[in-house]
Amino acid sequence: DQAPVVAVDGPSGSGKGTVSRALATRLGWHFLDSGALYRLVAHAALDRGVALDDEAGLADLARHLEVRFDTDSDRIWLGDEEVSLAIRSEAAGDAASRVAALPGVREALLQLQRDFRAAPGLVADGRDMGSVVFPAAEVKIFLTASAGERARRRYNQLKEKGIEADIAELVAAIEARDKRDMERPVAPLKPAEDAVELDTSGLDIEGSIAAALGIVRGRL
Ligand code: C5P
Repeated sequence: DQAPVVAVDGPSGSGKGTVSRALATRLGWHFLDSGALYRLVAHAALDRGVALDDEAGLADLARHLEVRFDTDSDRIWLGDEEVSLAIRSEAAGDAASRVAALPGVREALLQLQRDFRAAPGLVADGRDMGSVVFPAAEVKIFLTASAGERARRRYNQLKEKGIEADIAELVAAIEARDKRDMERPVAPLKPAEDAVELDTSGLDIEGSIAAALGIVRGRL
């Protein structure tokens, strides 16, 4: 009786964001960017002077997030403030990963995430969509790519913005973040038991989307 869910999980740089958005567009389904919710909590905390280790205070912020998404234009508001760009900064991402490690914050965001499920269906992008938030999802995809490939993608993104970077340093940073995400005690980054793993290392964006669509069509 509930709308179907496609859960797309994996580390950053795996192509997860691009692939899951494209899946939602091509299926004509709703889209949940769960990482944005953790970024919003961190942003609200910095804004209101709530410390990033104040679990009760952060959980309270998370429970009362006044968030509005416009998926078509990819814009996000927190109350009256448009935060689309602010939450994409490295600092916001870093703060997001800190608040995301707190069980009280994850618990407080559970229902909000589940409320995105609506007909005709939902594509949910995150780290624990298939394992925790939507354990009964019809399709679970775990996207990966080698650390070297993800570093190369990041390098190209930075270069496009005119920012110099060092590949070896990017690889090291990515490997360190993977380790932290996979070893955290709550909702660690790992494939759900029934997830299909898709390695996008040798694929471009179109190839990754086509492969993911193939998995979805084969399982719905
Ligand atoms: O995907 P994104 O980079 O926007 O996520 C920001 C941070 O939020 C991640 O580094 C991760 O620590 C956390 N996150 C999470 N669970 C999710 C989505 C994101 O812990 N479902």
